[in-house]
Amino acid sequence: MSIHHATLNQLKIFDALARHMSVARTAEALHLTPPAISIQTKKLSEAVDEPLLEHVGKQLYLTEAGKVVAAASRDIFDRMERLSQDLAMLKGMKFGRMRLAIITTTEYFVPDLLSEFFAHHPDIEVSLFVGNRDQLLERMKNNEDDLYILGRPPSGLPVVSEVFADNPLVVIAPPNHHLANKKAVDPKRLANEPLIVREPGSGTRLTTLEFFNKRRISPVVHMELGSNEAIKQCVMAGLGISIMSENNLRHELANRRLTQLDVKGLPLKRNWYFVYLRDKSLSPAAQAFREFMMTESKELMKHMPEASRGRRRK
Ligand code: PGA
Repeated sequence: MSIHHATLNQLKIFDALARHMSVARTAEALHLTPPAISIQTKKLSEAVDEPLLEHVGKQLYLTEAGKVVAAASRDIFDRMERLSQDLAMLKGMKFGRMRLAIITTTEYFVPDLLSEFFAHHPDIEVSLFVGNRDQLLERMKNNEDDLYILGRPPSGLPVVSEVFADNPLVVIAPPNHHLANKKAVDPKRLANEPLIVREPGSGTRLTTLEFFNKRRISPVVHMELGSNEAIKQCVMAGLGISIMSENNLRHELANRRLTQLDVKGLPLKRNWYFVYLRDKSLSPAAQAFREFMMTESKELMKHMPEASRGRRRK
């Protein structure tokens, strides 16, 4: 047998299996039965004359051959998607699908940007993944998406990264906090404040801990939470202070449910980046989104709460 005996259907199933790493989840995602997944994977394995999967205990792993076949399958389906979009463009139709992965913290403004984008490109579909920094970097390594939005580009991967907006990080506290009305607070004074941080793998957590490390301050980490929303609630409840992107705090700061402490060295000046693998040739849908983000997003984000309310009223 040779790979030439493999069918597109088998590769499609294996592509999904390599992403889900579970026969049951793959079957569910493709609306097939688990035995159908196993049979097609076995046939593919016979075609390449190598085992593609191995079980260690209950955990499923890709063999070296499995990794190579999974990467090739991903290339093939990326190319098919682009082919379908190129053909559509020849017919003068602008549609297609794009896979976008965004970092948790951007879920406060990316939906509004997407809604503006869809107003101009109603026939483009987006599949959206939301995760923390570590999850996005893992997906990037496996070439799982077309485009990524995150708070700092990865250092070890061959990527193109473009800044599209500012991402200032501020210290938040409840409005009645004893440092709330103080000016230019020395960061050392935060050392004894109970600090609430995001979960390991989060970019915000990384930046927060770097801020303290650089100043040789050992903060009292009081709580670790996997959600910005939960952190805001805890800070409002007086359980501690936190460092967070100002982009997520517009409502709470405007309604005075939270206050921003005036600490020396803050806001931390960061950016939002648009990132994609250097060798990736972007589909027309992904290119249209990239262009929109680079030209429109900064201005839209400045006025976002008003802008989104305005749009919804239309
Ligand atoms: P996070 O990342 O949502 O993983 O904390 C945000 C960032 O990198 O700024």
